[in-house]
Amino acid sequence: MSVLIKGGRVITAADDYVGDVYIEGERVSLIGESLDVEADKVIDAGGRYVLPGLVDPHTHLDMPFGGTTTIDDVESGQTAAAFGGTTCHVDFIIQPQGSSFADAVSDWKAKADGKQVIDMGYHMAVTDLREGGSLEELASLPDQGITSYKLFMAYKGALMVDDETLFKTMEVAAETGALVMVHAENGDAIDVLVKKALAEGKTEPKYHALTRPPETEGEATNRAIQLARVAGCNLYVVHVSCQESVEPIALAREKGWDVWGETCTQYFFVDYTFLERPNFEGAKYVYTPPPRDKANQDVLWAAVRNDVLSAISTDHCAFLWDGQKTLGKDDFSKIPNGGPGLENRLHMIHEFGVRQGRIGLNRMVELLATNPAKLFGLYPKKGTIAVGSDADIVVFDPDKKHTITAATQHSKIDYNLYEGTEVTGTPETVLLRGNVLVEGGELVVEPGIGQFVKRARFGEHLTAVEAAA
Ligand code: URP
Ligand code: ZN
Ligand code: ZN
Repeated sequence: MSVLIKGGRVITAADDYVGDVYIEGERVSLIGESLDVEADKVIDAGGRYVLPGLVDPHTHLDMPFGGTTTIDDVESGQTAAAFGGTTCHVDFIIQPQGSSFADAVSDWKAKADGKQVIDMGYHMAVTDLREGGSLEELASLPDQGITSYKLFMAYKGALMVDDETLFKTMEVAAETGALVMVHAENGDAIDVLVKKALAEGKTEPKYHALTRPPETEGEATNRAIQLARVAGCNLYVVHVSCQESVEPIALAREKGWDVWGETCTQYFFVDYTFLERPNFEGAKYVYTPPPRDKANQDVLWAAVRNDVLSAISTDHCAFLWDGQKTLGKDDFSKIPNGGPGLENRLHMIHEFGVRQGRIGLNRMVELLATNPAKLFGLYPKKGTIAVGSDADIVVFDPDKKHTITAATQHSKIDYNLYEGTEVTGTPETVLLRGNVLVEGGELVVEPGIGQFVKRARFGEHLTAVEAAA
């Protein structure tokens, strides 16, 4: 099968030109001006942007958490992703305490079996190095293409690890070349604040934020950075939400330390006041770290512009408002933490980042595709449009108006963080390894087409040939 994408404006992290992209089989084989080739399918991309398929480095599909399980499984979550122009994501395997890493890997792969609509990799969330997985087993994961370890410094009594586990994992990562990811919040201090609030009868959703002050994020971010420096590993701080954690990352990067950070779409748009919405509406915005004071939104835009933060993910962790968030109707600490986003990352960042002049198109591609691919061992197979790369491509109509609403989204969740937002610009056709996934507003493939991708170690490149081996 061959596909010719004709006359579009091809935009990568580095380039911006009008040209043709020719795909043979699963990869891009030729790029040029007015290519003289025959193709089985021709897509007229005149007036459209031709973007690399986006890479989301942070999602939670079919994940047990907060006394329930995220509502989007691999099929519904990846379908939502495909409509939003995301063709590859890296999801979190959560090691159940007491379980080996091998068991956790096979559980998570079984959840994806036959359901995959886009390509995916896994991070390993380490929760237990005492009763469960051993250091040796942890060290073997990169050979299986799982080249990042995640540690939760919060969620006491559930996923949180102590500094010993954090530091030992960092030491293993320094040896194996894996990237360490941290959810940076001081879980012990937060636990004290939560218990105090509940004892005082403070049960509404807004107390989720009021018991997780930004300093607890800043402190943990700095602690992780300093410990990573001692261990000698590469560090990636997930879902940075506020100035208090941007600052230590900026300082570390200024010193040339091996530290990177991401923020998520929602932190640019949802602020603390959303949690105060009446009739338990605020529960829709209970995710962690919590929505912050509005002033942080400009801090985050500056950080993604200046490369203090290198990626924008979704942290898609969707729970129904009606039936799941309501578990915490009388106690904010029982509201499952997480929000949706897989379908609207490109919509929102294109509209409010590019169209409103905060970042350029190249930087948008870098933040949503190229940097996540590079940081997580997927580049240049994923994250760019180049000869030899996977033909994961988004033909994006920059003039088409779209209203974001739960009524038409593809996620199973019953609300949307950006309900009613009107954007100009939306994915029109989405390809995964040369296969058209989305066309004419429909998903035109059967689940099962997506694949697990064995990722390269941090700093190593992944060619399409290696990944297929
Ligand atoms: O609230 C969130 N972010 N839920 C998902 C788990 C995590 O902390 O990333
Ligand atoms: Zn987290
Ligand atoms: Zn997360």
